[in-house]
Amino acid sequence: MSILLTGGAGFIGSHTAVELINAGYDVIIADNLSNSNEKVIDRIKMITNRRPKFYKIDVSEVEELCKIFDENDITGVIHFAGFKCVPESTKVPLKYYRNNLDTTLSLLEVMSKYKCNSIVFSSSATVYGDKNPVPFEENMPVGGATNAYGKTKLMIEEILKDIAMSSKDFSAVLLRYFNPIGAHPSGLIGESPDGIPNNLMPYVTQTAIGVRKFLTIYGTDYNTHDGTGVRDYIHVVDLAKGHVAAIKYATEHTGVEAINLGTGKGSSVWDVIHAFEKANGVKVPVQIGERRPGDIDECYASVYKAAELLNWRAKLSLEDMCRDSWNWQKNNPKGYESIWQYKNKWENVKSGYLVAFYIKYFIIYFLIHIFLLLKLYFQVAYLVEQAKTKTREFGAFKEINDNYPKYILSLDRANFSEDGIIHKNIIEWLLDI
Ligand code: UD1
Repeated sequence: MSILLTGGAGFIGSHTAVELINAGYDVIIADNLSNSNEKVIDRIKMITNRRPKFYKIDVSEVEELCKIFDENDITGVIHFAGFKCVPESTKVPLKYYRNNLDTTLSLLEVMSKYKCNSIVFSSSATVYGDKNPVPFEENMPVGGATNAYGKTKLMIEEILKDIAMSSKDFSAVLLRYFNPIGAHPSGLIGESPDGIPNNLMPYVTQTAIGVRKFLTIYGTDYNTHDGTGVRDYIHVVDLAKGHVAAIKYATEHTGVEAINLGTGKGSSVWDVIHAFEKANGVKVPVQIGERRPGDIDECYASVYKAAELLNWRAKLSLEDMCRDSWNWQKNNPKGYESIWQYKNKWENVKSGYLVAFYIKYFIIYFLIHIFLLLKLYFQVAYLVEQAKTKTREFGAFKEINDNYPKYILSLDRANFSEDGIIHKNIIEWLLDI
């Protein structure tokens, strides 16, 4: 069964590709790489041993999309493609409306043309706004998003509901993500934000590794157990598995279902920092700052609908998320642009990564040479020892040879034998020693 992932080279898309391949699906990725890196495709292959088919296209381009549907028998689509930076969306809302809506409309037109009726949409808990009590349930009223990013999520949910009303064969699952963090445990794929991160975890890992001086905690006067904002952090691998369950559901049912993907458990900013420090044995320098506009006290999911309809539940802990986020950051200090891929970039020299790279490889080079020298020393010592033994044997042989008659004589005298044959055997035995 072939599943098309629009925006499949991104953070959540790449993890979903891995889990789909692991579950036996054929994966096709369509991505213009505007906020991702083609290296992701190699990394997916390294993890799964199977390379997903990759099309570098803009999903809003109908003709390009048609080519993908012509060349593949696509059963369902998981639609990730879209811009997602909240602060940017308040500055350039038109860019967000144009891109996020265009990609969706083109995709839905092409799906309709090729009679592909199943879609999973990458929505967000942001659609619950700031008026609902926690935990957020799927049947609560949505709306109240304060930024263009959140509004495009709401609009696309509405578009999908309208299509489902008009077409009885159509099926859409609207996955409302809470706060995905963590990375694949291999450390090969993870979140690679462009520039200064907006979200908490990438800021924590970049501070821990020294790229940022401090993590600023945005407000300590929220109505929560320790005054900092509470969110429902979910491991991206759990989230990816939720997509596998959702596309299965979408291909087996019709109509629209909004489903939360969260753990149902809220953690504050302090909780995350402490869990991160404990899991990884590193310090995260912090400073207290002002509240960030638009942030709410608490946001966590009701998880019953996902369990009931998708038979899916998040399994990994906050500790797992912190460990895997750090593992990814350490292995890829500059995301997919890390040193071993772009060794000759001058920026890397400036930022010290190239130096770190050479120090690391100089140490390995040095250790290998020490090992080779030791090996050579022991080989020579062995040869010298053998030469000494041979010399000793030769001496013994010479002595025996010279004194052969004497030995026979003395052995004869000792009455070991009358005929001398045994004496000869004894001498041969001596030579063998
Ligand atoms: C943010 C977006 C939300 C989007 C989600 C995607 C805003 C206002 N909301 O949600 O629309 O769907 O990302 O993942 O941007 N924090 C700090 N210091 C930091 C960064 C964050 O203290 O440097 C705090 C925040 O105040 C918040 C918590 O950490 O309490 C989580 O923040 P973040 O990771 O940005 O996620 P959301 O605010 O939930």
